[in-house]
Amino acid sequence: MQAPISAGFPAFRGRRLRSRTGIRRLVRENELSVADLVWPIFVHDKDGSETIEAMPGVRRLSLDLAVEAAAEAITLGIPAVAVFPCVADELKTQECEEAWNPNNLANRTARAIRRDVPEIEVMLDVALDPYNSDGHDGLLRDGQILNDETVDCLVKQALGHAESGATMLGPSDMMDGRIGRIRHALESKGYHDIIIISYTAKYASAFYGPFRDAVRSGMALKGDKDTYQMDFGNTDEALRMVQRDLSEGADALIVKPGMPYLDLCHRISTHFGTPTFAYQVSGEYAMIEAAAAQGWIDRDKAVLESLTAFKRAGCSGVLTYFAPLAASLLDHGPASFRVG
Ligand code: PBG
Repeated sequence: MQAPISAGFPAFRGRRLRSRTGIRRLVRENELSVADLVWPIFVHDKDGSETIEAMPGVRRLSLDLAVEAAAEAITLGIPAVAVFPCVADELKTQECEEAWNPNNLANRTARAIRRDVPEIEVMLDVALDPYNSDGHDGLLRDGQILNDETVDCLVKQALGHAESGATMLGPSDMMDGRIGRIRHALESKGYHDIIIISYTAKYASAFYGPFRDAVRSGMALKGDKDTYQMDFGNTDEALRMVQRDLSEGADALIVKPGMPYLDLCHRISTHFGTPTFAYQVSGEYAMIEAAAAQGWIDRDKAVLESLTAFKRAGCSGVLTYFAPLAASLLDHGPASFRVG
């Protein structure tokens, strides 16, 4: 509980502690650091890079450019990259077999990054949507998303990703029972130290639109994801999901999207005391970029403000497409944000 303010005005003036840069820095409660950032990158099986229309400034990268990005992350002090593959249409099937091909794009990229930039954490998504001709995170049969059959696929996918050298796996599909099955499989194959960072509170959200353009899963998507991603009216349900995922062996949790769900970040981190991350998703990125491009907001300030909000809400860190920008701003930014 907060101590009551004992002095009245003018003995107490709230503005005193805001009056100079130095004092503001001294009393700042929450600080964003480069160590809080996970940088999601997109890869494709082509040479060079391609723009992503709805995400200005973000590109699909060839494998060698992805390795360069990982090296840049380390130079900037960013501890982790999350790799998302944009899979060629001809490799997408209803059975999603490409997801557990040991040489699929995600696995080749993780292997190359870990070989050339061994100090970086590499996170791979465990979900079928990049490989699914139906665009869903689960197998679609007769208009239904199959849960248990999907989990069988996820286990195979997770083992392939573990074998590729990925250090963190992010099951992001919201199927039931996946964390326990994946954890059991990892343990039984000797992958004792692979982090499972579960997308536990993942909402059916309009803010994923630009991402589906980036990995080209949007065109294929039949219907919506409402039978597996959560309803945006709910929070208690998210706590039950966290309880469940922790009991099945998750090491850390993700709330997704980020900024519209800060209440969840706060409730989950406070209630469970387990590392909780927010994903500032593609639509959040696109909104800031679009407004900044119009000159309506100051991009750099909006980025640092939005990312610091996640720290205020109790997050350990943030997955953000702004990671390299934020890292360089934290190093060279305006005095009020400078760390040292
Ligand atoms: C799906 C997945 C999604 C994102 C990451 N993995 C969204 C979806 O459900 O289509 C979205 C990330 C973003 O919007 O930045 N497995």
